[in-house]
Amino acid sequence: MQYVVEKIDDIDEKTKRELIVTALLHDLGKSMWPDELFTKPSYLLKVEDIALIKTHTILTRNLLKENVGELLNENILKFIENHHEKPGGKGYPAGLVEPGYPVRILEAVDIFCATLLEERAYRTGKENAEGVFMEIEELAGKKVSKILKELYQKLFVTADKQFKEGVM
Ligand SMILES: [Fe+2]
Repeated sequence: MQYVVEKIDDIDEKTKRELIVTALLHDLGKSMWPDELFTKPSYLLKVEDIALIKTHTILTRNLLKENVGELLNENILKFIENHHEKPGGKGYPAGLVEPGYPVRILEAVDIFCATLLEERAYRTGKENAEGVFMEIEELAGKKVSKILKELYQKLFVTADKQFKEGVM
């Protein structure tokens, strides 16, 4: 994550540091989920499962603020709370129309790293970056904007090298 964020050249150094800290902490609230939620395929999720999933942004923010709030600035807490917001009000928890560029970077990097690295209940992780890029192209067409697709392409060049060298 740190490597990828450092390659983005149109945000300032302070925002980069904030994004890196956010990336490390943003899903901590998932630790409160029941175990079966981590392994249940998405097509088996019930309405109440989805509602619970959508609380993790606020839950994470509140956990961090209550326990280590003095170590984190308001930008980091805001990025954590908003990390599932999407342009046009399609995200959560607040349905912000424009979540802001740092949050869109988080979204892009989160999908990118998850696609590249993580096993899911419904598929295995990708063994090579070409497969990752094909999946990203598919996602870019369906659920993310053109601007994010361009960001993915920019990230792909360096991430592919890191992936092959085994350091990502
Ligand atoms: Fe999340």
